[in-house]
Amino acid sequence: MPHKLAAGNWKMNGLGGDLAALPAMAATAQATGVATLICPPATLLSRAATTGLHLGGQTCHPNPKGAHTGDISAAMLRDAGASHVIVGHSERRTDHGETSHEVAAQAQAAWAEGLVAVICIGETLAQREAGETLAVLRAQLADSIPDGAAAANTVIAYEPVWAIGTGLVPEIAQIDEVHDDLRARLGARFADGADFTLLYGGSVKAGNAAEIFSCANVNGALVGGASLAAADFCPIIEALGAS
Ligand code: PGA
Repeated sequence: MPHKLAAGNWKMNGLGGDLAALPAMAATAQATGVATLICPPATLLSRAATTGLHLGGQTCHPNPKGAHTGDISAAMLRDAGASHVIVGHSERRTDHGETSHEVAAQAQAAWAEGLVAVICIGETLAQREAGETLAVLRAQLADSIPDGAAAANTVIAYEPVWAIGTGLVPEIAQIDEVHDDLRARLGARFADGADFTLLYGGSVKAGNAAEIFSCANVNGALVGGASLAAADFCPIIEALGAS
């Protein structure tokens, strides 16, 4: 069985004072029994590490250490308190030109340090309008996920690029179609493909969370903007708990 996961990606947002949001999120996670992950900027990881939430990084370098100015290793994230790391977010793919093969190498680096890799895939609006969505996602899935993936070390997040930070959300039937296809692909490739946790991400809010979580193969959400404040994120955790 996949486990439910509410994941928050703070991106390049958050200073020390913003950690004040975490205790309420942790309390909701505990009350609902929903595993809840916050991925703050790396500067805040060690200060967030006492809250009882799962913590994650937002990227990691494929190499374990070395001369890579400005980059962060999986070991550094683990040392700072992380149990997870997001890899292949579309903002990394776009802003830093990361390819699916590099994302796969990052996932392997994460596993080498015992971190769960949250591997992101998603189509652009042009790709969706061209009818290429499933083909694009299948290729990203094939190339971004190394052979060693298992439900215990990997979470997949489907995030349509055009839905991130825009307030636009696919129709529920479109989310269903993608997640059902992801589940089938994972089942064809991995012995425990039925057990992978599959997240939807892109403009998830308190108002649309319950409907998104009604999809059979949606096991949680990767939430950007609405994960910064407890008043926005806690209702999403609760909706997942009730799903
Ligand atoms: P959003 O971001 O919830 O602000 O759309 C989602 C993400 O990029 O993970």
